[in-house]
Amino acid sequence: MKILLLNGSPRKGNTVTALEALKKGLAQIPDAEVEEILCEGKNIIPCRACDACGSMSRCIFADDSPEINAAVEAADAIVFATPVYWWGMTAQMKLIIDKFYARGTKFHGLKKKVGSIVVGEADQDDPEYEIIARQIWCIADYLGWETVFQKSYTANKPRDLAADEAALAEIEGLAALLK
Ligand SMILES: Cc1cc2nc3c(=O)[nH]c(=O)nc-3n(C[C@H](O)[C@H](O)[C@H](O)COP(=O)(O)O)c2cc1C
Repeated sequence: MKILLLNGSPRKGNTVTALEALKKGLAQIPDAEVEEILCEGKNIIPCRACDACGSMSRCIFADDSPEINAAVEAADAIVFATPVYWWGMTAQMKLIIDKFYARGTKFHGLKKKVGSIVVGEADQDDPEYEIIARQIWCIADYLGWETVFQKSYTANKPRDLAADEAALAEIEGLAALLK
């Protein structure tokens, strides 16, 4: 079982902490093969809507999107983990998702489970968590992928989430839902 973790944060902070907790849980699943992609630092040319990918199934511009799309295609489960930036996912993650377009219909209907983990400074009653969860759910649903969890946490300074034992235990337990 291949599990792809997409980390949308550019820093070593709460999203990394959340993914460490998830990986602890995944380590208890015997056949889980985990791959992590740090969106930050990837060379992704923003989608220019040229539609050339329609005939090539890959972006015509030389960037890292073909390898990332190959990892997405191969995964049985994908976890989108991102901080909140301006009521949305980070630009680093969105650039990568936009390039899913290059795989067009090839991504549709592949059997995949999806989870999302979102970390923001605001309290949990802020609409930002629902906005991002809904967006990720819609992307997955459009592609025919099953969303199995959507979680959000309030944390701001890089080590905040590491001090939230209840959150870490919950995240560790989410791993079982990806099976
Ligand atoms: C450019 C930028 C925009 C942000 N926008 C929001 C926001 O709209 N809402 C929010 O709750 N937190 C916002 N934050 C705070 C981060 O979501 C928060 O610090 C989070 O814990 C960062 O996660 P990380 O430690 O994994 O990078 C923003 C931070 C930055 C740098």
